[in-house]
Amino acid sequence: MDFTAKLYSGKITGTKYHVLVVPIFEDRKLHPELKEIDKAWKNELTEAVKDEALTSLGELYIAPTPLAKGLKRVAFVGMGKRNECDLETVRRAAGLAANSLRKREIPIVTFLAEAFVPPEGDVESTCRALIEGARLGSYTFDQFKTEKETNVISTAEIHLPGNAKIRDYVPMLNEVTTLTTSSIITRDWCNTPANLATPTHLSRLAKDIAKEASLSVKILDEKACDKLGMGAFLGVSKGSNEPPQFIILDYKPTKYTKTIVMVGKAITFDSGGISLKPGKDMHIMKGDKGGGVAVLATMRAVGLLKPKKVRVVGIIPACENMPSGHATKPGDIIRTMSGKSIEVLNTDAEGRLIMADGLEYGRIEYNPDYMIDVATLTGACVIALGEQIAGYWTDFDILADAMNAAGEVTGEKVWRMPLEMEYDDQLKSQCADTQNIGKREGGAITAALFLKKFVGDIQWLHLDIAGPFWSNENRPYTPKGCTGYGPRLLYNFVAKLAE
Ligand code: BES
Ligand code: ZN
Ligand code: ZN
Repeated sequence: MDFTAKLYSGKITGTKYHVLVVPIFEDRKLHPELKEIDKAWKNELTEAVKDEALTSLGELYIAPTPLAKGLKRVAFVGMGKRNECDLETVRRAAGLAANSLRKREIPIVTFLAEAFVPPEGDVESTCRALIEGARLGSYTFDQFKTEKETNVISTAEIHLPGNAKIRDYVPMLNEVTTLTTSSIITRDWCNTPANLATPTHLSRLAKDIAKEASLSVKILDEKACDKLGMGAFLGVSKGSNEPPQFIILDYKPTKYTKTIVMVGKAITFDSGGISLKPGKDMHIMKGDKGGGVAVLATMRAVGLLKPKKVRVVGIIPACENMPSGHATKPGDIIRTMSGKSIEVLNTDAEGRLIMADGLEYGRIEYNPDYMIDVATLTGACVIALGEQIAGYWTDFDILADAMNAAGEVTGEKVWRMPLEMEYDDQLKSQCADTQNIGKREGGAITAALFLKKFVGDIQWLHLDIAGPFWSNENRPYTPKGCTGYGPRLLYNFVAKLAE
Protein backbone atom coordinates (compact mmCIF):
# COMPACT_ATOMS: atom_id res chain seq x y z
CA MET A 1 0.00 0.00 0.00
CA ASP A 2 3.05 2.26 -0.04
CA PHE A 3 2.26 5.32 -2.05
CA THR A 4 3.99 8.66 -2.52
CA ALA A 5 2.86 11.79 -4.28
CA LYS A 6 5.58 14.16 -5.45
CA LEU A 7 5.74 17.67 -6.85
CA TYR A 8 8.07 19.02 -9.52
CA SER A 9 8.34 22.17 -11.55
CA GLY A 10 10.58 23.57 -14.27
CA LYS A 11 10.91 22.98 -17.97
CA ILE A 12 9.50 19.68 -19.19
CA THR A 13 12.23 19.10 -21.69
CA GLY A 14 14.73 18.95 -18.88
CA THR A 15 12.84 16.32 -16.85
CA LYS A 16 13.31 12.57 -16.71
CA TYR A 17 9.68 11.52 -16.34
CA HIS A 18 8.89 7.97 -17.28
CA VAL A 19 5.44 8.76 -18.64
CA LEU A 20 4.07 12.28 -18.71
CA VAL A 21 0.28 12.16 -18.93
CA VAL A 22 -1.33 15.09 -20.73
CA PRO A 23 -5.01 15.69 -21.41
CA ILE A 24 -6.49 15.73 -24.87
CA PHE A 25 -9.87 17.41 -25.35
CA GLU A 26 -12.24 17.17 -28.28
CA ASP A 27 -10.70 20.32 -29.76
CA ARG A 28 -7.44 18.35 -30.00
CA LYS A 29 -5.30 21.38 -29.21
CA LEU A 30 -1.80 20.54 -28.12
CA HIS A 31 -0.84 22.19 -24.83
CA PRO A 32 1.80 24.92 -25.48
CA GLU A 33 4.28 23.21 -23.15
CA LEU A 34 4.36 20.24 -25.51
CA LYS A 35 5.22 22.20 -28.64
CA GLU A 36 8.96 21.93 -28.03
CA ILE A 37 8.76 18.21 -27.51
CA ASP A 38 6.62 17.86 -30.57
CA LYS A 39 9.33 19.55 -32.61
CA ALA A 40 11.99 17.25 -31.25
CA TRP A 41 9.73 14.29 -32.01
CA LYS A 42 9.17 15.37 -35.60
CA ASN A 43 5.53 16.35 -35.05
CA GLU A 44 4.61 12.95 -33.72
CA LEU A 45 2.32 14.47 -31.10
CA THR A 46 0.57 16.68 -33.64
CA GLU A 47 -0.03 13.63 -35.77
CA ALA A 48 -1.20 11.53 -32.83
CA VAL A 49 -3.88 13.92 -31.65
CA LYS A 50 -5.54 13.88 -35.07
CA ASP A 51 -7.10 10.57 -34.07
CA GLU A 52 -10.65 11.37 -32.99
CA ALA A 53 -11.14 8.24 -30.90
CA LEU A 54 -8.45 9.51 -28.58
CA THR A 55 -10.56 12.20 -26.97
CA SER A 56 -13.24 10.07 -25.25
CA LEU A 57 -12.92 10.11 -21.47
CA GLY A 58 -10.11 8.00 -20.07
CA GLU A 59 -8.82 6.74 -23.42
CA LEU A 60 -5.06 6.38 -23.06
CA TYR A 61 -2.62 6.67 -25.91
CA ILE A 62 1.09 6.37 -25.32
CA ALA A 63 3.09 8.07 -28.06
CA PRO A 64 5.30 5.33 -29.47
CA THR A 65 8.66 7.03 -29.74
CA PRO A 66 10.65 7.30 -26.55
CA LEU A 67 13.16 10.12 -26.31
CA ALA A 68 16.74 9.12 -25.77
CA LYS A 69 17.42 11.78 -23.15
CA GLY A 70 15.22 13.50 -20.55
CA LEU A 71 11.47 12.92 -20.72
CA LYS A 72 10.92 9.40 -21.95
CA ARG A 73 7.30 9.19 -23.03
CA VAL A 74 4.16 11.25 -23.43
CA ALA A 75 0.73 9.67 -22.93
CA PHE A 76 -2.50 11.37 -23.92
CA VAL A 77 -5.61 10.81 -21.88
CA GLY A 78 -8.98 11.60 -23.44
CA MET A 79 -11.03 14.28 -21.64
CA GLY A 80 -14.12 14.81 -23.81
CA LYS A 81 -15.42 18.35 -24.31
CA ARG A 82 -13.25 21.08 -22.80
CA ASN A 83 -16.17 23.24 -21.61
CA GLU A 84 -17.90 20.28 -19.94
CA CYS A 85 -14.82 19.35 -17.95
CA ASP A 86 -14.82 19.74 -14.16
CA LEU A 87 -12.77 18.35 -11.29
CA GLU A 88 -14.72 15.08 -11.33
CA THR A 89 -13.75 14.66 -15.02
CA VAL A 90 -10.13 15.19 -14.00
CA ARG A 91 -10.43 12.62 -11.20
CA ARG A 92 -11.97 10.10 -13.59
CA ALA A 93 -9.45 10.64 -16.36
CA ALA A 94 -6.57 10.35 -13.88
CA GLY A 95 -8.09 7.15 -12.47
CA LEU A 96 -8.50 5.55 -15.88
CA ALA A 97 -5.04 6.63 -17.01
CA ALA A 98 -3.35 5.35 -13.85
CA ASN A 99 -5.16 2.04 -14.06
CA SER A 100 -4.13 1.55 -17.70
CA LEU A 101 -0.53 2.31 -16.76
CA ARG A 102 -0.73 -0.08 -13.81
CA LYS A 103 -1.87 -2.84 -16.13
CA ARG A 104 1.16 -2.10 -18.30
CA GLU A 105 3.33 -2.56 -15.23
CA ILE A 106 4.30 1.10 -15.07
CA PRO A 107 4.47 2.08 -11.38
CA ILE A 108 4.96 5.84 -11.72
CA VAL A 109 2.55 8.26 -13.30
CA THR A 110 3.28 11.96 -13.91
CA PHE A 111 0.68 14.57 -14.81
CA LEU A 112 1.15 17.91 -16.51
CA ALA A 113 -1.10 19.70 -14.01
CA GLU A 114 -1.72 23.02 -15.72
CA ALA A 115 -3.08 21.39 -18.86
CA PHE A 116 -5.79 19.63 -16.83
CA VAL A 117 -7.21 22.72 -15.08
CA PRO A 118 -10.93 22.82 -15.92
CA PRO A 119 -12.75 26.08 -16.83
CA GLU A 120 -13.92 26.51 -13.23
CA GLY A 121 -10.91 25.20 -11.35
CA ASP A 122 -7.47 26.18 -10.14
CA VAL A 123 -4.11 24.46 -10.21
CA GLU A 124 -4.26 23.32 -6.58
CA SER A 125 -7.66 21.63 -6.73
CA THR A 126 -6.66 20.09 -10.07
CA CYS A 127 -3.52 18.58 -8.51
CA ARG A 128 -5.69 17.21 -5.73
CA ALA A 129 -8.11 15.61 -8.20
CA LEU A 130 -5.25 14.12 -10.23
CA ILE A 131 -3.67 12.49 -7.20
CA GLU A 132 -7.03 11.24 -5.90
CA GLY A 133 -7.90 9.76 -9.28
CA ALA A 134 -4.50 8.13 -9.76
CA ARG A 135 -4.39 6.61 -6.33
CA LEU A 136 -7.98 5.47 -6.02
CA GLY A 137 -8.25 4.39 -9.66
CA SER A 138 -5.27 2.04 -9.56
CA TYR A 139 -6.45 0.22 -6.40
CA THR A 140 -6.56 -3.56 -6.31
CA PHE A 141 -7.63 -5.87 -3.49
CA ASP A 142 -5.30 -8.80 -3.96
CA GLN A 143 -3.88 -9.48 -0.51
CA PHE A 144 -5.47 -12.93 -0.44
CA LYS A 145 -4.38 -13.93 -3.94
CA THR A 146 -1.26 -16.01 -4.38
CA GLU A 147 -0.79 -14.58 -7.86
CA LYS A 148 -0.82 -10.85 -7.25
CA GLU A 149 -2.30 -8.41 -9.72
CA THR A 150 0.15 -6.58 -11.89
CA ASN A 151 2.02 -3.61 -10.49
CA VAL A 152 0.47 -1.01 -8.30
CA ILE A 153 0.96 2.67 -8.92
CA SER A 154 3.39 3.55 -6.15
CA THR A 155 4.07 7.15 -7.12
CA ALA A 156 1.96 9.92 -8.57
CA GLU A 157 3.99 12.89 -9.71
CA ILE A 158 2.70 16.33 -10.48
CA HIS A 159 4.48 18.67 -12.82
CA LEU A 160 3.51 22.16 -11.67
CA PRO A 161 3.40 25.26 -13.89
CA GLY A 162 6.81 26.91 -14.36
CA ASN A 163 6.12 29.82 -12.02
CA ALA A 164 4.72 27.69 -9.17
CA LYS A 165 6.49 27.48 -5.82
CA ILE A 166 6.49 23.87 -4.72
CA ARG A 167 6.23 24.78 -1.03
CA ASP A 168 2.84 26.45 -1.66
CA TYR A 169 1.46 23.08 -2.65
CA VAL A 170 2.90 20.98 0.16
CA PRO A 171 -0.08 21.30 2.56
CA MET A 172 -2.40 20.15 -0.24
CA LEU A 173 -0.08 17.24 -0.97
CA ASN A 174 -0.04 16.22 2.68
CA GLU A 175 -3.81 16.44 2.97
CA VAL A 176 -4.61 14.55 -0.20
CA THR A 177 -2.12 11.80 0.67
CA THR A 178 -3.62 11.38 4.14
CA LEU A 179 -7.20 11.42 2.87
CA THR A 180 -6.66 9.00 0.01
CA THR A 181 -4.86 6.65 2.41
CA SER A 182 -7.95 6.78 4.63
CA SER A 183 -10.14 5.92 1.61
CA ILE A 184 -7.86 3.00 0.72
CA ILE A 185 -7.89 1.78 4.32
CA THR A 186 -11.70 1.89 4.22
CA ARG A 187 -11.73 -0.20 1.04
CA ASP A 188 -9.23 -2.72 2.41
CA TRP A 189 -10.99 -3.19 5.75
CA CYS A 190 -14.42 -3.25 4.22
CA ASN A 191 -13.42 -5.78 1.58
CA THR A 192 -11.84 -7.99 4.26
CA PRO A 193 -14.33 -10.77 4.93
CA ALA A 194 -16.17 -11.36 8.18
CA ASN A 195 -14.12 -14.42 9.24
CA LEU A 196 -11.09 -12.12 9.50
CA ALA A 197 -12.57 -8.66 10.08
CA THR A 198 -14.31 -9.45 13.36
CA PRO A 199 -15.30 -6.82 15.94
CA THR A 200 -12.15 -7.76 17.89
CA HIS A 201 -10.07 -7.21 14.76
CA LEU A 202 -11.66 -3.78 14.27
CA SER A 203 -10.83 -2.80 17.82
CA ARG A 204 -7.21 -3.81 17.19
CA LEU A 205 -7.19 -1.64 14.11
CA ALA A 206 -8.67 1.21 16.12
CA LYS A 207 -5.79 0.90 18.58
CA ASP A 208 -3.26 0.99 15.72
CA ILE A 209 -4.94 4.08 14.31
CA ALA A 210 -4.98 5.76 17.69
CA LYS A 211 -1.22 5.24 17.90
CA GLU A 212 -0.56 6.42 14.36
CA ALA A 213 -2.77 9.51 14.63
CA SER A 214 -2.21 10.39 18.32
CA LEU A 215 -5.83 9.82 19.36
CA SER A 216 -7.06 8.46 22.63
CA VAL A 217 -8.90 5.19 22.37
CA LYS A 218 -11.31 3.35 24.60
CA ILE A 219 -12.84 -0.06 23.95
CA LEU A 220 -15.90 -1.16 25.90
CA ASP A 221 -16.36 -4.93 26.06
CA GLU A 222 -19.63 -6.78 26.52
CA LYS A 223 -19.55 -6.42 30.30
CA ALA A 224 -18.94 -2.68 30.18
CA CYS A 225 -21.72 -2.22 27.61
CA ASP A 226 -24.06 -4.26 29.77
CA LYS A 227 -23.28 -2.07 32.76
CA LEU A 228 -24.22 0.99 30.71
CA GLY A 229 -27.52 -0.63 29.79
CA MET A 230 -26.84 -0.99 26.06
CA GLY A 231 -29.59 -3.58 25.56
CA ALA A 232 -30.06 -2.70 21.88
CA PHE A 233 -26.41 -3.14 20.94
CA LEU A 234 -26.08 -6.35 22.96
CA GLY A 235 -29.45 -7.60 21.74
CA VAL A 236 -28.08 -7.58 18.19
CA SER A 237 -24.74 -9.09 19.13
CA LYS A 238 -25.98 -11.95 21.30
CA GLY A 239 -26.75 -14.35 18.42
CA SER A 240 -23.06 -14.37 17.50
CA ASN A 241 -20.03 -16.15 18.93
CA GLU A 242 -17.87 -13.09 18.28
CA PRO A 243 -17.64 -10.74 21.27
CA PRO A 244 -18.97 -7.21 20.59
CA GLN A 245 -16.67 -4.20 20.82
CA PHE A 246 -17.79 -0.64 21.41
CA ILE A 247 -14.97 1.53 20.07
CA ILE A 248 -14.35 5.19 20.94
CA LEU A 249 -11.64 7.38 19.39
CA ASP A 250 -11.11 10.91 20.61
CA TYR A 251 -9.30 13.84 19.01
CA LYS A 252 -9.09 16.55 21.62
CA PRO A 253 -6.88 19.55 20.90
CA THR A 254 -5.89 21.70 23.88
CA LYS A 255 -8.20 24.50 22.76
CA TYR A 256 -11.50 23.86 21.06
CA THR A 257 -14.83 25.61 20.73
CA LYS A 258 -16.96 22.87 19.19
CA THR A 259 -17.41 19.14 19.73
CA ILE A 260 -18.48 16.86 16.91
CA VAL A 261 -19.48 13.25 17.53
CA MET A 262 -19.48 10.78 14.62
CA VAL A 263 -21.17 7.42 15.10
CA GLY A 264 -20.55 4.64 12.56
CA LYS A 265 -22.41 1.35 12.14
CA ALA A 266 -20.00 -1.59 12.15
CA ILE A 267 -21.95 -4.80 11.66
CA THR A 268 -19.07 -7.05 10.64
CA PHE A 269 -21.57 -9.42 9.07
CA ASP A 270 -25.30 -8.91 8.62
CA SER A 271 -27.00 -12.25 8.01
CA GLY A 272 -30.30 -10.67 9.06
CA GLY A 273 -30.34 -12.71 12.28
CA ILE A 274 -33.46 -14.84 12.84
CA SER A 275 -35.16 -12.71 10.14
CA LEU A 276 -32.56 -14.29 7.86
CA LYS A 277 -31.69 -12.59 4.57
CA PRO A 278 -32.05 -14.46 1.27
CA GLY A 279 -28.83 -16.20 0.18
CA LYS A 280 -28.29 -14.27 -3.05
CA ASP A 281 -25.66 -11.55 -2.57
CA MET A 282 -25.52 -12.12 1.18
CA HIS A 283 -21.72 -11.96 0.97
CA ILE A 284 -22.01 -8.21 0.32
CA MET A 285 -23.05 -7.89 3.96
CA LYS A 286 -19.39 -8.31 4.95
CA GLY A 287 -19.41 -4.62 4.04
CA ASP A 288 -22.13 -3.75 6.56
CA LYS A 289 -19.31 -2.32 8.67
CA GLY A 290 -18.79 0.39 6.03
CA GLY A 291 -20.06 3.26 8.17
CA GLY A 292 -17.97 2.28 11.19
CA VAL A 293 -14.84 1.75 9.14
CA ALA A 294 -15.39 5.11 7.41
CA VAL A 295 -15.57 6.77 10.84
CA LEU A 296 -12.36 5.01 11.96
CA ALA A 297 -10.57 6.12 8.81
CA THR A 298 -11.92 9.67 9.17
CA MET A 299 -10.64 9.80 12.75
CA ARG A 300 -7.23 8.79 11.40
CA ALA A 301 -7.32 11.75 9.01
CA VAL A 302 -8.53 14.07 11.77
CA GLY A 303 -5.72 12.97 14.08
CA LEU A 304 -3.07 13.43 11.40
CA LEU A 305 -4.32 16.67 9.85
CA LYS A 306 -5.28 18.24 13.18
CA PRO A 307 -8.13 20.65 12.40
CA LYS A 308 -8.13 23.57 14.82
CA LYS A 309 -10.76 24.58 17.38
CA VAL A 310 -12.73 21.37 17.13
CA ARG A 311 -12.90 18.20 19.19
CA VAL A 312 -13.94 15.14 17.20
CA VAL A 313 -15.09 11.87 18.74
CA GLY A 314 -15.63 8.71 16.70
CA ILE A 315 -17.95 6.06 18.14
CA ILE A 316 -18.14 2.65 16.50
CA PRO A 317 -20.42 -0.04 17.90
CA ALA A 318 -19.06 -3.24 16.30
CA CYS A 319 -20.73 -6.65 16.34
CA GLU A 320 -22.14 -9.43 14.17
CA ASN A 321 -25.82 -10.02 13.38
CA MET A 322 -26.26 -13.81 13.40
CA PRO A 323 -29.04 -16.33 13.94
CA SER A 324 -28.54 -18.87 16.74
CA GLY A 325 -30.17 -20.27 19.84
CA HIS A 326 -28.98 -17.14 21.64
CA ALA A 327 -30.25 -14.68 19.07
CA THR A 328 -32.91 -12.02 19.56
CA LYS A 329 -36.21 -13.18 18.07
CA PRO A 330 -38.89 -11.18 16.23
CA GLY A 331 -41.27 -9.87 18.88
CA ASP A 332 -38.60 -9.62 21.59
CA ILE A 333 -38.56 -6.41 23.60
CA ILE A 334 -35.19 -4.89 24.49
CA ARG A 335 -34.20 -1.85 26.56
CA THR A 336 -31.79 0.74 25.19
CA MET A 337 -29.23 2.75 27.11
CA SER A 338 -31.63 5.71 26.91
CA GLY A 339 -34.22 3.71 28.84
CA LYS A 340 -36.61 3.48 25.87
CA SER A 341 -37.92 0.00 25.14
CA ILE A 342 -38.00 -1.37 21.58
CA GLU A 343 -40.09 -4.16 20.14
CA VAL A 344 -37.86 -5.89 17.59
CA LEU A 345 -40.23 -6.89 14.81
CA ASN A 346 -37.48 -7.65 12.34
CA THR A 347 -34.00 -8.67 13.46
CA ASP A 348 -32.62 -7.57 10.08
CA ALA A 349 -33.30 -3.94 11.01
CA GLU A 350 -30.34 -4.23 13.39
CA GLY A 351 -28.28 -1.22 12.35
CA ARG A 352 -30.69 1.26 13.89
CA LEU A 353 -30.61 -0.75 17.13
CA ILE A 354 -26.85 -0.57 17.61
CA MET A 355 -26.91 3.07 16.47
CA ALA A 356 -29.57 3.90 19.07
CA ASP A 357 -27.08 3.00 21.80
CA GLY A 358 -24.20 4.60 19.90
CA LEU A 359 -26.08 7.90 19.60
CA GLU A 360 -27.21 7.82 23.21
CA TYR A 361 -23.66 7.20 24.39
CA GLY A 362 -22.40 10.09 22.24
CA ARG A 363 -25.10 12.40 23.58
CA ILE A 364 -24.64 11.57 27.25
CA GLU A 365 -20.85 11.35 27.35
CA TYR A 366 -19.95 14.33 25.17
CA ASN A 367 -23.01 16.57 24.88
CA PRO A 368 -21.73 17.55 21.42
CA ASP A 369 -22.58 20.64 19.38
CA TYR A 370 -23.07 18.43 16.35
CA MET A 371 -23.65 14.73 15.94
CA ILE A 372 -23.53 12.75 12.70
CA ASP A 373 -24.15 9.08 12.14
CA VAL A 374 -23.02 7.04 9.15
CA ALA A 375 -24.52 3.68 8.32
CA THR A 376 -25.23 1.15 5.59
CA LEU A 377 -28.72 1.33 7.02
CA THR A 378 -31.46 0.52 4.51
CA GLY A 379 -32.04 -1.18 1.19
CA ALA A 380 -34.86 1.35 0.80
CA CYS A 381 -32.31 4.17 0.47
CA VAL A 382 -30.70 2.32 -2.44
CA ILE A 383 -34.12 1.99 -4.08
CA ALA A 384 -34.75 5.71 -3.57
CA LEU A 385 -31.41 7.13 -4.72
CA GLY A 386 -29.65 4.32 -6.59
CA GLU A 387 -26.22 2.90 -5.95
CA GLN A 388 -24.11 6.03 -6.16
CA ILE A 389 -25.86 8.57 -3.93
CA ALA A 390 -26.02 8.61 -0.15
CA GLY A 391 -29.16 10.00 1.48
CA TYR A 392 -28.96 12.30 4.45
CA TRP A 393 -31.54 13.56 6.92
CA THR A 394 -31.26 16.56 9.17
CA ASP A 395 -33.41 19.32 10.65
CA PHE A 396 -30.43 21.69 10.64
CA ASP A 397 -29.47 23.68 7.57
CA ILE A 398 -25.97 24.35 8.89
CA LEU A 399 -25.29 20.61 8.76
CA ALA A 400 -26.99 20.21 5.38
CA ASP A 401 -24.89 23.05 3.94
CA ALA A 402 -21.69 21.53 5.28
CA MET A 403 -22.62 18.12 3.89
CA ASN A 404 -23.49 19.49 0.43
CA ALA A 405 -20.29 21.50 0.32
CA ALA A 406 -18.21 18.47 1.35
CA GLY A 407 -19.85 16.35 -1.35
CA GLU A 408 -19.08 19.02 -3.96
CA VAL A 409 -15.42 19.03 -2.98
CA THR A 410 -14.86 15.26 -2.96
CA GLY A 411 -17.24 14.03 -5.66
CA GLU A 412 -19.02 11.74 -3.16
CA LYS A 413 -22.66 12.30 -3.99
CA VAL A 414 -25.20 13.15 -1.27
CA TRP A 415 -28.88 14.11 -1.33
CA ARG A 416 -31.06 15.58 1.41
CA MET A 417 -34.15 13.54 2.32
CA PRO A 418 -37.19 14.48 4.40
CA LEU A 419 -37.64 13.75 8.11
CA GLU A 420 -41.39 13.41 7.56
CA MET A 421 -42.95 13.37 11.04
CA GLU A 422 -46.27 12.10 9.68
CA TYR A 423 -44.60 8.73 9.12
CA ASP A 424 -43.51 8.55 12.74
CA ASP A 425 -46.77 6.79 13.69
CA GLN A 426 -45.53 3.77 11.76
CA LEU A 427 -43.02 3.19 14.56
CA LYS A 428 -45.67 2.97 17.31
CA SER A 429 -45.55 -0.39 19.01
CA GLN A 430 -48.40 -2.35 20.62
CA CYS A 431 -46.35 -3.21 23.65
CA ALA A 432 -43.14 -1.14 23.82
CA ASP A 433 -42.10 2.54 23.52
CA THR A 434 -41.30 2.03 19.87
CA GLN A 435 -40.79 -0.72 17.29
CA ASN A 436 -37.85 -1.09 14.96
CA ILE A 437 -39.60 -1.12 11.57
CA GLY A 438 -42.23 0.86 9.68
CA LYS A 439 -43.76 0.12 6.28
CA ARG A 440 -41.67 -1.00 3.31
CA GLU A 441 -42.61 2.21 1.51
CA GLY A 442 -40.41 5.05 2.70
CA GLY A 443 -38.33 2.58 4.73
CA ALA A 444 -35.25 4.81 4.69
CA ILE A 445 -37.27 7.67 6.17
CA THR A 446 -38.74 5.65 9.04
CA ALA A 447 -35.22 4.35 9.79
CA ALA A 448 -34.08 7.98 10.12
CA LEU A 449 -37.12 8.81 12.29
CA PHE A 450 -36.24 5.88 14.52
CA LEU A 451 -32.72 7.24 15.05
CA LYS A 452 -34.08 10.72 15.75
CA LYS A 453 -35.67 9.37 18.93
CA PHE A 454 -32.19 8.96 20.41
CA VAL A 455 -30.54 12.32 19.72
CA GLY A 456 -32.56 14.63 21.96
CA ASP A 457 -32.17 18.23 20.87
CA ILE A 458 -28.61 17.89 19.59
CA GLN A 459 -28.01 19.19 16.05
CA TRP A 460 -27.80 15.90 14.23
CA LEU A 461 -27.43 14.53 10.70
CA HIS A 462 -27.95 10.93 9.59
CA LEU A 463 -26.15 9.63 6.48
CA ASP A 464 -27.32 6.38 4.86
CA ILE A 465 -24.54 4.97 2.66
CA ALA A 466 -26.20 1.64 1.78
CA GLY A 467 -25.94 2.56 -1.93
CA PRO A 468 -22.47 3.99 -2.42
CA PHE A 469 -20.47 1.83 0.02
CA TRP A 470 -20.39 -0.92 -2.62
CA SER A 471 -20.01 -1.05 -6.39
CA ASN A 472 -21.09 -3.93 -8.59
CA GLU A 473 -19.05 -2.59 -11.50
CA ASN A 474 -15.67 -1.05 -12.20
CA ARG A 475 -15.95 2.75 -12.36
CA PRO A 476 -13.27 5.24 -13.44
CA TYR A 477 -11.62 5.50 -10.02
CA THR A 478 -13.63 2.93 -8.10
CA PRO A 479 -13.13 -0.75 -8.83
CA LYS A 480 -15.79 -3.37 -7.98
CA GLY A 481 -16.38 -4.12 -4.31
CA CYS A 482 -16.19 -1.75 -1.35
CA THR A 483 -15.70 1.77 -2.61
CA GLY A 484 -14.13 3.46 0.39
CA TYR A 485 -16.96 5.98 0.43
CA GLY A 486 -16.91 8.28 3.42
CA PRO A 487 -13.64 9.48 4.94
CA ARG A 488 -12.90 12.18 2.37
CA LEU A 489 -16.49 13.40 2.63
CA LEU A 490 -16.59 13.25 6.43
CA TYR A 491 -13.24 14.95 6.88
CA ASN A 492 -14.34 17.84 4.67
CA PHE A 493 -17.66 17.98 6.53
CA VAL A 494 -15.84 18.26 9.86
CA ALA A 495 -13.42 20.85 8.45
CA LYS A 496 -16.35 22.96 7.18
CA LEU A 497 -18.04 22.89 10.60
CA ALA A 498 -14.77 23.83 12.27
CA GLU A 499 -14.37 26.97 10.11
N1 BES B 1 -27.51 -3.74 6.26
C1 BES B 1 -28.84 -3.70 5.82
C2 BES B 1 -29.11 -2.61 4.79
C3 BES B 1 -28.41 -2.74 3.47
C4 BES B 1 -29.05 -3.33 2.41
C5 BES B 1 -27.17 -2.23 3.30
C6 BES B 1 -28.42 -3.39 1.18
C7 BES B 1 -26.53 -2.32 2.09
C8 BES B 1 -27.16 -2.89 1.03
C9 BES B 1 -29.79 -3.45 6.99
O1 BES B 1 -29.38 -3.92 8.22
C10 BES B 1 -31.08 -4.12 6.66
O2 BES B 1 -31.07 -5.30 6.50
N2 BES B 1 -32.14 -3.35 6.55
C11 BES B 1 -33.41 -3.87 6.21
C12 BES B 1 -34.44 -3.15 7.02
C13 BES B 1 -35.83 -3.74 6.92
C14 BES B 1 -35.86 -5.11 7.58
C15 BES B 1 -36.80 -2.81 7.58
C16 BES B 1 -33.63 -3.62 4.71
O3 BES B 1 -33.19 -2.59 4.22
O4 BES B 1 -34.18 -4.49 4.06
ZN1 ZN C 1 -29.94 -5.98 8.51
ZN1 ZN D 1 -27.26 -4.14 8.41
